[in-house]
Formats: sequence, structure tokens, C-alpha cells
Amino acid sequence: MTSDDGETGLRRGLTNYGDREFSAYLRRSFASSMGYGSEMLDKPIVGICHSASGFNNCHRHFPELIEAVKRGVLAAGALPIEFPTISLGEVFLSPTSLKYRNLMSMDVEEMARAQPIDALVLLGGCDKTVPAQLMGAASADIPAIQLVAGPMSTGRHRGERLGACTDCRRFWAKFRAGQIDAEEIGAVEQRLASTAGTCAVMGTASTMAALAETLGMMPAGAAAIPAVDSDRLRMAEQTGRIAVGLIGAADRRPSRIMTPEAVENALRVLLALGGSTNAIIHLTAIAGRLDIPVDLARLNALSDSTPVLVDLKPTGAGYMEDLHAAGGMPAILRELRHLLHLDCLTVTGETLGDRIAAADPWVDRAFIRPFAEPVRETGGLVALFGNIAPRGAILKRSAADPALFEREGRAVVFTSLEDLAARIDDPDLDVTEEDFLILQNAGPTSAAAMPEAGYLPIPAKLARAGVRDMIRISDARMSGTAYGTIVLHVAPDAASGGPFGLVRDGDRIRLSVEDRKLELLVDAAELARRAAAPASGPGAGAAATPARGYSRLYQEQILQADEGCDFGFLKGTG
Ligand code: FES
Ligand code: MG
Repeated sequence: MTSDDGETGLRRGLTNYGDREFSAYLRRSFASSMGYGSEMLDKPIVGICHSASGFNNCHRHFPELIEAVKRGVLAAGALPIEFPTISLGEVFLSPTSLKYRNLMSMDVEEMARAQPIDALVLLGGCDKTVPAQLMGAASADIPAIQLVAGPMSTGRHRGERLGACTDCRRFWAKFRAGQIDAEEIGAVEQRLASTAGTCAVMGTASTMAALAETLGMMPAGAAAIPAVDSDRLRMAEQTGRIAVGLIGAADRRPSRIMTPEAVENALRVLLALGGSTNAIIHLTAIAGRLDIPVDLARLNALSDSTPVLVDLKPTGAGYMEDLHAAGGMPAILRELRHLLHLDCLTVTGETLGDRIAAADPWVDRAFIRPFAEPVRETGGLVALFGNIAPRGAILKRSAADPALFEREGRAVVFTSLEDLAARIDDPDLDVTEEDFLILQNAGPTSAAAMPEAGYLPIPAKLARAGVRDMIRISDARMSGTAYGTIVLHVAPDAASGGPFGLVRDGDRIRLSVEDRKLELLVDAAELARRAAAPASGPGAGAAATPARGYSRLYQEQILQADEGCDFGFLKGTG
């Protein structure tokens, strides 16, 4: 690949204030200060864009992976240069990691463009880092290949396998219900996340890795290799070699790989995985950078004809290490081949069809089912629409209880996260297991910036009585490792003035998964009256626009969930 000025390597994007050769001389001189020999500085450059951080446990093995990528790049004749971007360690960020995904995407995009880089390796893994890198690479549109951290291996507790973070929730629920004591939950705490790598189940990180492979942005089989396996180091080395092959290959830029057909393939795979609800937001944001719309009505159409094939937690039995041993993404893609656009080009130069033809036909059917004998007949996610969600809401039906799919119930409304925290465990809370728990003002435009709060806890008195699931509806998100009959991403959100904010305690709501409906059974005149009442009307929970800084940019630019929660000014190819 050549830059716009036709130069490669260190000469790419030289400043030109009248004497380009002086700029080149300065660059070589400063690069020499890092100990590179002169002939190294003549080579094209592969930038290794990574997100290692002391605040990112999932990426703690990146130094080793980076070394392996560098070996591959050097062996193929280019100069590898690593550089960090900000990192998004899922559990360490406040108020949410989602708030900073777009910031990281800007970091990736601008550094990929500003520095002398001929091809890019994107090294991420934790939930938001994979979409942030793909968004940035799509916008910069320089040749790029992704390498993910790979999943954690499972731990053990008293004979049981443990994997973050579905088992985190399972054990915490036992602790809340008084079934295990403080000493045991303390022991579990030490064993849930015991290796490098991303959460061990089909959560957001694993789903995004699978989608990145499906989109063609990674080599075949790369998504599911465990973080600590030597296969991942070999894959890293291979990734470095492939990156060198991308130099000068204009037809393998991200915009040529992530086409509308590739995005549709990714949607299919998301449904077949029973993957994370967050992934629909991220895929929409990635596609949006390339002017590719992701329509929730289309998601529903695909969902009807795409079975869930994968039996992994949080909805099933296995862990990511099992999926890898069972055949990984190539085996899943093979099962889905008649539904996929096989002529999509991937970053290695193969088409998706080529990859499927080359896949090992052996599959462990315990974790990857045949198309004709799926885990579930229909896709994992479904979009719901109605008077309180005119732009849609998402239900992960594969993680939900079908007995709750056709229900009418009474709303028990929490108007904010603070209200939820203050009252959910109140013994006097007027709630039964038939009620619908509603959480408002936790969407993208709220001050909370769309946290993973949609997994509302079962009120303590119901949990103690043995209630394990009930219908919960919010404009928030949910962790990809969580489960339950939980409607998320209601759009537009309450804080922006969406009609979801008009729901009041005691209202009746009808949920019909079959009809794809979420309806507030309150007449239009009453809703209009509520909307006109200033204190309680729509937007009552809106965050004040901060005076300065990134939070101000966020508040001014954030889009709704159905637009991927990107920033308005970052969308599109411009
Ligand atoms: Fe990084 Fe779960 S915390 S993937
Ligand atoms: Mg997560």
C-alpha cells in the first residue's frame, strides 16, 4: 500500500514545509535513536495497534502476542512497530466502557492515519476494544487485520468448572439467596478469572471475536483459540505475515472486506451463536462507519431462518475452550454455508467459501450442532417494536424463558439506577413475580451512559422465595454473559424523551415475542397528557450537558442504540 503521496515506510505522510528530504532525514535520525539499523528503516511498516493496559486483565499476555506478531512481520520482510491506544478494561471503567468505545475508535483511526503505517495489526479482545478497533480501521480504511486476545481457560471450584462471567452471576445469585456463605464466595472470587484472555463464555468479547472472523477481518479459526494456547502465538505470528501481504493490496482495505454482504453474514452468525445483545450495537456501529445500515426488521427476518447451533454458556453448557476444541468458527460457518454470502473476500485473500471448503470436517457435536438438529430452531436475538419502543428493543430469546414470551403484566417502574438501587430489595416493594420490572433513564443519552444494568436483580424477597426469572425491560444494556427474560436497548431511550419514559407504576404492558410486540396498554390521550406534564414528562431524566471535555462531546453526539451508539459526526465515509 502506498500513502497518498506515493511513499511507503518511514517516508509515508512526510511533512512538507518546503524541504521533504529534511523531514525524512529527521525521521530516520529519530528512529535511529531507537536502535534500528539503516536498512530496517527502508522497509515498509506494519503498525501493531494494541490495547495492553494495567487496567485490562484480559490483555495481560499482549507483550508475548506482540512479540509473535513482530516475528511474523520481520520474517515477511517488513518493519513491525507497536503502539498503544487507550484500552477499555470492561469492569474497571466508570460509568461504562461503552461511553469510551467511540473515544478509542477515534484514537485508533487517527493514529493509524497520522503515523507512517502501511498496514495495521489490531490487537484487542475485551468487549469494547474489538468494535472500537474495527470502527477506527473502517474509518481510516488502511489495510488491517485483527488479532484477538482469545478466551480465558476455565478454573475449578470444588469439582465444578468456572468461567467468567456467567458463573460469576450464578454464584453471586446463590450468595444473595443465602445458599453459600461469605467464605465460599471469597474462594470463588479467586478462581473465576484465573488466566489471561477474555471472558470464557459466549459473552460480548467472544461474540465480537466470532463476528470479526466472520466479517473476514481475521484468519480462519482465529476467534476461539484460548489465550494461553501456543496456537494463539502461532496465529499471532501468522497474523504478522499476513499483514505484510496486505501492503499495497488496495482490494483488501477494510471497506472492501466489510461489505453489506459480510455484515449480513455476521448478523447470521450472531443469531446462530445465541451471541451477546451488545454485539448488535457494535456491529451496527462498525457497519455505520462504512454507510452500511443494519436494520432491526432485517434482523428479525434473518432470525426466523437462522437456528442457534452453539451450546455454550450463558445459554447452554460449554465454554469457549470447548468451542475451539469442537472445531471453532470454521465448523459453525460450514453448518451455515447455505445461508451465507460465500463470495465475500477476507483479509487473507481467500473468500469465505474458500475457508469453509478448507475447514476440517470433524466437529464435536456436543458444542456445535448440525443445522438440521439445532439447539433452537430460531435465532438467538429478536427485535421488538411498539408504542414504547418505536425504534426497537432487543430480546435475547435464547437466554430467556419461553414461558414468559406471551405475557401481559403490571409495570413496577424504577426511574433511574439510583431509584433501582434504593428500592429493589425493599421488603415493602409492591411486586410479584407476574409483574414487569421497568428501568428508565439508563440509555445512551442518560448520565449513566447505557450501563449493563438491564439485568435487573430479582427483588430480594422474590429471590428468597425461589423466583429465578421475571420480565425486565429497560433502555440499558446487559452483559453478554447474563441471561433471563430481559428486554433491552429500548429506543429511543427515556432520557432523550422517548415514550418509554411515559411508563408509570401500575400500567399494563403486553409482551409478545411471536408478534414482535412491546405495547404499553395506555390510551394515546393519557400518554399525551403525561408527555405534556413537565416534571414527569419525557426527558425528565435527561443528563445535563457537561460544560467541557469528552463528556460534553459524548452528550452532544451520542446516537441511539438502533444507530449503534456511535457519534453522529463519526458515522459514514464522509
Ligand atoms: Fe474483558 Fe470480559 S472483562 S472480556
Ligand atoms: Mg461483558
